[in-house]
Amino acid sequence: MCLLDRERESSEEIHHFKMKLLSVIILLLAIAAAYYIYIPLPSTICEPWKLMVLDATFRAVVKMGDVAHALGLSHSVHVINSAIISFESLVPITHKEIRIEDILFDGIRVRVYHPPGQEGKLRRAVMFIHGELGSYDSLCRQMSADLDAVVVTVDYRMAPEVHFPVQYEECVQAAEYFLRPEVLAQFSVDPERVAIGTDNSTSVKFKLQVLIYPVLQALDFNTASYQQNQDVPILYRRLMARFWLEYLGADPELVNPIMMNNHTALDQIQLSQNLAKLNWTNLLPKQLKKHYKPVFPSTGSPNILKDVPGLLDARAAPLLAEDEVLRKAPRAYVMTGEHDVLRDDGMMYARRLELAGVSVTNEHYQDGFHGCVTFAFWPCHFSVGIRVVQNYIMWLDKYL
Ligand SMILES: *[C@@H]1O[C@H](CO)[C@@H](O)[C@H](O)[C@H]1NC(C)=O
Ligand SMILES: *[C@@H]1O[C@H](CO)[C@@H](O)[C@H](O)[C@H]1NC(C)=O
Ligand SMILES: *[C@@H]1O[C@H](CO)[C@@H](O)[C@H](O)[C@H]1NC(C)=O
Repeated sequence: MCLLDRERESSEEIHHFKMKLLSVIILLLAIAAAYYIYIPLPSTICEPWKLMVLDATFRAVVKMGDVAHALGLSHSVHVINSAIISFESLVPITHKEIRIEDILFDGIRVRVYHPPGQEGKLRRAVMFIHGELGSYDSLCRQMSADLDAVVVTVDYRMAPEVHFPVQYEECVQAAEYFLRPEVLAQFSVDPERVAIGTDNSTSVKFKLQVLIYPVLQALDFNTASYQQNQDVPILYRRLMARFWLEYLGADPELVNPIMMNNHTALDQIQLSQNLAKLNWTNLLPKQLKKHYKPVFPSTGSPNILKDVPGLLDARAAPLLAEDEVLRKAPRAYVMTGEHDVLRDDGMMYARRLELAGVSVTNEHYQDGFHGCVTFAFWPCHFSVGIRVVQNYIMWLDKYL
């Protein structure tokens, strides 16, 4: 009896101990997860916890990409792109009435979204440029439905397969093809009412340009917004600098010197004629600059600008375009987010366009972060993403 009791007691103790151990492990895992997920965020960000979870996921994806890359399994950019695509595929298809057609424009793959209704009726059109066929599908369907417009997305090839200027040239090629009178007629598009969701539109006649938190320059990685938002999710300053080098096909090791503006240090000869262009932050409103300290090192890393000429190419960095070029640009809509390293790229460009005499609407979101437009659709939505999409579609509806 006594023996049995003791046995029972000891097995209960073991059971007790196991349960305790389990709860300690769960607690430790929860702390580790919270530690990984928790990051301090500016108070003006709405839905901070949602952003933290999104950010932790994105950081994990970037890490996985780096590991896969180091092991030679896959290029890090492929891992990031496929994660974004599979994330977007969580969103159920809406606007099923929109007909989709995958075709070639002068050899370039494009997807055309056709709203339903009368054949032959002339419609407005939007050319939406963001690479990777099928990405931004919900957004394109919504644009097509809300505007009763033909929407074309261009599946230009991207890094690491190709580097600048191939991406740019393929987009221009597709745009020029689309704007041929006979092609517009084939798609029942009104030639007077075509907009483009990207930059350079000097060679082809677009009525409007819409830029959503655009990337416009790579000479200054220390603008006020780069300084203020360098650690704000999800587009960290370091990641943006990496993407630039990837886009231009440059050595990834250059990320540290360019983040310090060593490539545009004052001793870099090529820069003398570009110095005025470096000093763009004068174009920004004072209240945005806050504790901004300009970073113009007196000595830097020689040869970066020579080895990576794309850094000084206005086709890659439209903020470098001359006034005469900007003057010819169509009416513009520029969306910027306060919590985005690229905020000042967009704001400085909007201001330059305005000074060049182009009509500009700069819609600035105090709670905007880079990527929010991808998160405008249930169940992966942020309120700011929904507002941005509604407002820019409203703007297009008004001016297109
Ligand atoms: C940038 O412009 C400001 C104001 O115009 C001027 O004070 C400053 O010296 C300039 N900086 C450089 C590096 O040219
Ligand atoms: C930036 O340039 C300075 C001066 O040439 C150099 O000492 C420093 O190592 C460079 N920084 C990086 C990260 O390359
Ligand atoms: C825009 O494109 C045209 C034609 O491709 C080119 O000649 C021009 O330099 C480009 N302008 C800018 C600012 O990139």
